[in-house]
Amino acid sequence: MDFLTEFEAKINMANQGLQTYFVKKENHQMSVYEAMEYSLFAGGKRIRPVLCLACAELFGNAEDALPFACAMEMIHTYSLIHDDLPCMDDDDLRRGKPTNHIVFGEAMAVLAGDALLNAAFETVLNHSKVNPAVTLETLKVMAELSGTEGMIGGQVIDLESEGKSVDSVTLMAMHVHKTGALMMASAKAGALAAGASKEDVLNMENFARYLGVAFQIKDDILDVESSTEVLGKTIGSDSANEKTTFVTLYGLEQSKKMLEDYTQNAIDTLEVYGERGAFLKELSLFLLRRDR
Ligand code: IPE
Ligand code: IPE
Ligand code: MG
Ligand code: MG
Ligand code: MG
Repeated sequence: MDFLTEFEAKINMANQGLQTYFVKKENHQMSVYEAMEYSLFAGGKRIRPVLCLACAELFGNAEDALPFACAMEMIHTYSLIHDDLPCMDDDDLRRGKPTNHIVFGEAMAVLAGDALLNAAFETVLNHSKVNPAVTLETLKVMAELSGTEGMIGGQVIDLESEGKSVDSVTLMAMHVHKTGALMMASAKAGALAAGASKEDVLNMENFARYLGVAFQIKDDILDVESSTEVLGKTIGSDSANEKTTFVTLYGLEQSKKMLEDYTQNAIDTLEVYGERGAFLKELSLFLLRRDR
């Protein structure tokens, strides 16, 4: 199978999983379900669930990882809804559509984000078929890497760096946490669900850390170089918010070089898997070249 066919198959698998696990109830909570559904199915690239499923496939069965993969997309979507709020990045466009708070109002957007975080953990608790000890271990990884020591911690650094010139160590910590952490959680969850060894889980964590940093460097570059139409979010958001990014600290050319280096570092961690690592390698290159 070629990369794009396999990639699409995993995206379809994730989308079907999300359709199954996201149950919208017709009760007095209807409005929050609608807000959750709006962002969850607004057209995200599904990179985190694909990563989770691919890491599971490397060591076992992708099917076992599906609830974890979908949970990671729910957590990611919640992080985006909150990231776009007026009190954070104040963005109006996401996934080519008006942001959640523009459509549903700020209060409902906060609740929809919160609700997606809960829904993520409920999805795993209700649908995981892997043994309870492994499920528990994986939930711990997901909770930690989404939390204050993970994605939220990265968002804190991001907010506190606005309008300031931060050093390269702080910038790296920001990218590792705000974006790397959910990639790491997705990769580790996939490997754990598939019964990978400790060493393999660690390899996947390292792979996803490099991939996550590369992904955010590319995101910083696209904020400057892409167009709103292609990206599906308003370009120039970072400079409007006086964010410190790879582009502001290193400039475009150096950022592009670092993007290539981090992508290569990610690919190097796959060397031990030989041909079996081909999909993850192709995924890394696809993300390097992406235009949205
Ligand atoms: C956007 O992530 C936020 C970052 C961490 C850079 P994606 O580029 O994966 O966004 P979607 O899911 O495709 O909308
Ligand atoms: C977002 O980083 C990281 C998250 C944890 C949501 P950005 O603020 O750069 O993401 P975009 O550009 O709005 O998607
Ligand atoms: Mg942000
Ligand atoms: Mg943002
Ligand atoms: Mg960005």
